[in-house]
Order: sequence, then structure tokens, then C-alpha cells
Amino acid sequence: MIAVAKKQGAMVLVDEAHSMGFIGEHGRGVAEDQGVLDDVDFVIGTFSKSVGTVGGFCVSNHPKFEILRLVCRPYVFTASLPPSVVATAATSIRKLMHAGNKRAHLWENSKILHKGLTEAGFQLGTAEPQSAIIAVIMPDLEKGAAMWEALLKEGLYVNLARPPATPANMTLLRCSLCAEHTAEQVQTIMACSSAPERPWGSSDAAPRGQALRDHRGSAGDRQGNCRTLCGRGGDAAAR
Ligand SMILES: Cc1ncc(COP(=O)(O)O)c(C=O)c1O
Repeated sequence: MIAVAKKQGAMVLVDEAHSMGFIGEHGRGVAEDQGVLDDVDFVIGTFSKSVGTVGGFCVSNHPKFEILRLVCRPYVFTASLPPSVVATAATSIRKLMHAGNKRAHLWENSKILHKGLTEAGFQLGTAEPQSAIIAVIMPDLEKGAAMWEALLKEGLYVNLARPPATPANMTLLRCSLCAEHTAEQVQTIMACSSAPERPWGSSDAAPRGQALRDHRGSAGDRQGNCRTLCGRGGDAAAR
């Protein structure tokens, strides 16, 4: 893409929202991973995922970068971030730069969950694990919402992406992994999610719950395990 953009005289802006902290040796994202950081004109990202707070950034060496301060409406018409948020973001970013072990563990979690859900028969957004978010494709909103609710009742929170954010007749259940998830917890996510005889798409949540109980043993075990996965609802990748 960069080669084509340069040839055509276009600028390149990379949104590293999903990759910051996770992809690349120092967690700088896809551009770092691909070795093209110096060829990218603008890098944007959010503090709401791997950084664990709110806000975002745009960095650039482009000579006309400063013009964004005048014409970028979300920047011009938004109050500055509170100092506490800036301090949190700065601390998180410093830690992320040296979080190679956490990145490795998160990759491991991502690969295991991707493999487990694929083997259980679910249709995933990507053929290979590429992110800390594993997206499961659901055929329509009714079935997607039914499955989302069934999982929530089991104690597993996933993000439901629905039209118009997704194409019509398609919803996504986005499983957001983080570096703090243990191997055991990833197994619990798969146990909560997988019922091979009833792949996601069944709106029949009650019998599915029975299948999960059979699969995972006592209700006490199930609740204890699943509860550890609840908590922050947003994308907590790499935290
Ligand atoms: C690709 C991408 N860019 C940017 C954002 C913006 O994130 P936020 O509005 O939380 O800062 C998101 C949020 O999900 C995203 O997925």
C-alpha cells in the first residue's frame, strides 16, 4: 500500500487502535511490525484499548501536520484530556514499550482461542489469529443477540457488533482477550462458548446451557471460573 501511495503522491495514515501495545517488537503497531514506520505519514491510535483509559493521539513528521490542529473538528471542538487521564496514558504507554512478555502471552492466548473456536466449528472473522480480539461471525442480529445474552448469563462478556456497524444480516461477537487472562481462563472462555453440536447460530439458549453444564461440570465450578472473565466491558487487549 505504501509503495502504491508513494507512486501516486498520496499520504498514508495508519490507525493502530487494535495493534498498539500488541503488534510490533515494541508494541508500536502494524507499521513497526512491517518495518515501514518511517514511510507512514500519520499514525493515529486510541488510549481506550491497550492503554486502558480514554482519548487518543495522532503523531506525524509531516511538515503540514500542524494544520490538523486547526481543521480537525474532533480535536478543535473537544476539551483537553484531564491531567489524570494523560498521566495514566503516559504511564501505560511507557510500560507497553517494555511489555514483551505480556505481548507474547497475549499472542499465545489469541492463538489458543482462535484454534479452539475454529475447531469447535465457529466461523471467525479471520482465517488466522491476527489480533487480541477474536470476532465470531453470526448470521443475523436475532441469533447474535441471543448468543450474546446466553454467554452473559454464563458469566462471559463479549462485545456484540451489530448493523449498521456490521453489514446487514451479520453480527459479530468480539471476544477481547487481554494479557492478564491466564491459560486456564482461556480454556474457560472456550468451554463457555463452544457447544459443537450447537454452533453459535442457534437461538436455542436453554438446551445449549445444558450442554455447557455437561461439558464443564458443576454449576459452582462454572460460575467461579466464568466470573473471573467479567469486568471491564470494553476492549482490554494487552492490558
Ligand atoms: C479501528 C478503530 N479506530 C479507532 C477507534 C476509536 O476508539 P475510541 O473512540 O475508543 O478512542 C476504534 C474503537 O473501537 C477502532 O476500532
